[in-house]
Amino acid sequence: MSGRLLAVSDLHISYDDNRRIVEELRPRSEGDWLLVAGDIGEKVEGIEWTLRLLASRFEKVVWAPGNHELWTQESDPVQLRGEARYRHLVELCRGLGVVTPEDEYPVWEGEGGPVRIAPLFLLYDYTFRTPTAPTKEESLAQARAAGIVCTDEYLLYPDPYPSRDAWCRARVAETERRLEAVQGGPPLVFVNHYPLVRQPTDILRYPEFAQWCGTTATADWHLRFDTAVMVYGHLHIPRTTWYDGVRFEEVSLGYPREWRRHGLPQGLLRDVLRHVPTGVNEGLLSGRPSPTPAASPAAGTPPVGPSQVGERGAGAPGGGGR
Ligand SMILES: [Fe+2]
Ligand SMILES: [Fe+2]
Repeated sequence: MSGRLLAVSDLHISYDDNRRIVEELRPRSEGDWLLVAGDIGEKVEGIEWTLRLLASRFEKVVWAPGNHELWTQESDPVQLRGEARYRHLVELCRGLGVVTPEDEYPVWEGEGGPVRIAPLFLLYDYTFRTPTAPTKEESLAQARAAGIVCTDEYLLYPDPYPSRDAWCRARVAETERRLEAVQGGPPLVFVNHYPLVRQPTDILRYPEFAQWCGTTATADWHLRFDTAVMVYGHLHIPRTTWYDGVRFEEVSLGYPREWRRHGLPQGLLRDVLRHVPTGVNEGLLSGRPSPTPAASPAAGTPPVGPSQVGERGAGAPGGGGR
């Protein structure tokens, strides 16, 4: 089997410049698979357009939802909310031959394999709280006071669950069962919109935003389950880090204002099984020796805030957090 295992996330095609980039995304070789770790966009029509295009070009496309796919905007003809919206997207994917978190985890047998690809839908549960907040409510209050509120609070409905954190807990429990059932098989490539551990959020300029970025319930999954690579997005901070010897790849494109600042990487699609050390962003947060001389995170990785993270709400529906 030829080809590479490639990954990308946060294509955010509501921006014309991003849509043009998507139009140019092509396999590097016959047999390439593409992992898409969420935040294609918000409207179902645009999500379908993207996945149909990618599925027509890549041997296999694997999708995990981001928070943006789960927003229900007034301008979207598809007004489904919460679980019903997610299931609608899963059926859309199945019609296109795209693998979802609800399908059997496929095994990549090409270069670097065999590895089992596990797309996850876990959401978040507000356990990445601020250091001084003992509860979700206090952490949210601090975020509101700081003006750092994710637009999910207005547009990501958890129906029929009573809350987004309840939905997250249900997803974590169901996903654990799925993962335990494949224990003992090939190592896993996790594909989740959020990192499985909290550490990648440590460099957010506004720490209040971390509560919309994952759950402590998965903090040991990269150790409990035989993990080859953990692929995620959402933070809009593309980089490689290592935790407990396991490689984590943030593979986002992000918003035009973000990628214009640092330029598009050569070959936007990350080759997830072929690790090439790239410099100061590596090893800084893990205790693993960096391939470059020792540097502090501040030197190698500037603090990042919602203007770069791009997920913030300005405190009103739709405001600032597209
Ligand atoms: Fe995003
Ligand atoms: Fe996101």
